[in-house]
Amino acid sequence: MLPSAKGWLAVAGLWVAVALAMPASADAPVVAKVSSPGEVLSVEVTTDGDGRLEYRVLRQGRAVIETSRLGFILADAVKLERNLAIIGVVASNHDTTWEQPWGERRFVRDHHRELRVQLQEKTALARRLDVVFRVFDDGLGFRYEFPAQPNLAQANIVQELTEFNLAEVPVAGAKDEAWWITGGEWNRYEYLYQRTPLREVGTAHTPMTVRRADGLHLAIHEAALVDYAGMWLRRVEGTRFKAVLSPASSGPSVQRAVPFNTPWRTVQVAPSAAALYASSDLILNLNEPNKLGDVSWFKPHKYVGVWWGMHLDIQSWASGPKHGATTAYTKRMIDFAAANGFRGVLVEGWNEGWDGDWFANGETFSFTKPYPDFDIEWLAAYAKSRGVHLVGHHETSANIAHYEAQLAAGLDLYQRLGIDAVKTGYVADAGGVKARGADGKIRFEWHDGQVQSRHHLHVVEEAARRHIAVNAHEPIKDTGLRRTYPNWVAREGARGMEYNAWGEPKNPPEHEINLVFTRMLAGPMDYTPGVLSLRGRGDTRIPSTLARQLALYVLIYSPIQMAADLPENYARFPKPFRFIKDVPADWAETRVLNGEVGDYVTIARKDRNSDDWYLGAGTDEDGRTLEVGLDFLDPGRRYVAQIYRDGDQADFRTDHQFDVVVEERPVARGDRLTLRLAPGGGQAIRFKAR
Ligand code: NOJ
Repeated sequence: MLPSAKGWLAVAGLWVAVALAMPASADAPVVAKVSSPGEVLSVEVTTDGDGRLEYRVLRQGRAVIETSRLGFILADAVKLERNLAIIGVVASNHDTTWEQPWGERRFVRDHHRELRVQLQEKTALARRLDVVFRVFDDGLGFRYEFPAQPNLAQANIVQELTEFNLAEVPVAGAKDEAWWITGGEWNRYEYLYQRTPLREVGTAHTPMTVRRADGLHLAIHEAALVDYAGMWLRRVEGTRFKAVLSPASSGPSVQRAVPFNTPWRTVQVAPSAAALYASSDLILNLNEPNKLGDVSWFKPHKYVGVWWGMHLDIQSWASGPKHGATTAYTKRMIDFAAANGFRGVLVEGWNEGWDGDWFANGETFSFTKPYPDFDIEWLAAYAKSRGVHLVGHHETSANIAHYEAQLAAGLDLYQRLGIDAVKTGYVADAGGVKARGADGKIRFEWHDGQVQSRHHLHVVEEAARRHIAVNAHEPIKDTGLRRTYPNWVAREGARGMEYNAWGEPKNPPEHEINLVFTRMLAGPMDYTPGVLSLRGRGDTRIPSTLARQLALYVLIYSPIQMAADLPENYARFPKPFRFIKDVPADWAETRVLNGEVGDYVTIARKDRNSDDWYLGAGTDEDGRTLEVGLDFLDPGRRYVAQIYRDGDQADFRTDHQFDVVVEERPVARGDRLTLRLAPGGGQAIRFKAR
């Protein structure tokens, strides 16, 4: 039970109770409370009779998170949970706006109230801990801060005791639902999303998205995952979840010298799916500002690559007759890129080490020695002469011990050749990252453990020194670190387009819609859309219409967007290909016009470098008609809407999946459009300012 408001004090305009204002009785519960700037969300923090720290979250007075515990289990000391006393409360208001170097929008407002709760154990150990909440109108973040102290110089954290006890609000005929992928499984983040009652979630990766029976949307995730283990969510009972830290190969999940701060645990809270997507700014807001200074050397761009052919198995990464990364083929790709305005040409399989079982043999890769039939010096110079940049590739097969030994040399080579973006790769089953331990021996680590969180930032910092951007595949999850390190431009971290090249199951239409409301809450994804041929290996059907492939450029955000298909396939579809050439990869503004998790979504984005707007819409396996108002267009301007829509017969299950209509009409702000989406379909529109 929380005590009444009696004894609360106003600090910086906020109602909080401070320890000093309370009776001196040792066990008296002390409440600190803060509400969001618009009084939408509020957080209450207290200790129970045993001195355990607890918090709860309300939205407009109704519970979102019921009383939930906080704390830590340590490997070499008594757990940090009981016998805590609140010794101080500090509250503050914040309202700033900052500019992104690139992103879904140019300016981001950071409007929140902060509550710092200072704690001390009442035992002889007298260890200290702060819990800091930042509360926005559409969500909150909280983290633990360990101040320097005599009795805790090193925190060896086995597990967090952080809970998220989600409140249920029964509504007749409706149920709480969750969209989630399993945490701690072999395929890392590459699963189809499960849609289950909230009470049937097992152990989930974050972001996990919830639609409550009353329509409230929540997403639990984290921000600023630095030198710490990634968090999974384990349902303990009912709708109570507990943080589980991704394990280390041996010993505690996290080892940190004190003082340090944990990542932020985030809860986005919104009345609709569309508002949930918009609320993701808080993840960026909880990250530190740009540490790199001027990053204008990174240019958001589109790229093509020596890539899809390997996934179709008509080319190989390995040397031999099918080798894709030859000088001649790469030259063709450079010419194709130059002719069509793509800045980048990704080349995979350029370096020695791919022969044999490359999944298992990460120690064979060289990051400086090209295969003899790949003249990297000549190709880099030729690309430059055509206004194109090679995009580098470092597949490590998750042998980071081997990679780290060559990292500097590999990046130096790229820097010298003007290769200013690198795609890294960590192909290996979860738990199969090979890292060198302090004793010099190889250890097997998780892709989202503390070791890998350190490794990724090490690569990003080394790359930044050389003005190289990083796009990691099989990565640790995105927690908004692009704000602090704007050269960490994209990553995979979900099932991408490549699954549509391989076997079955391919990505069903609902997968991409699910991504928008789950994975994409975390940050940019290198999904690699634009496969207009709609065919995978062995001529198998990709479950999409052609128009939908175009819509993905607007729906699934990344500042680097691939045009993944083969040049000869783009030649077959010159009219739709026009949209891929036109669509930008950097936005001034983003609006989610409508959507339901897993069903459909429409997003409008404004080009950062012109007055044009773009719209993408997509649906699951059900065809549907959506009405949208063009209220986002700039007032007083006239536009030509260049529309790429599903034809009347279009259907992702039949050869009519190629049925696309390209048409134009004049429009202005306030007009309405009817978007007819075929089963598995979509629509893409460029609003060209006149
Ligand atoms: C998996 C990546 O997702 C894919 O894009 C890449 O081609 C292969 N690994 C090889 O590095």
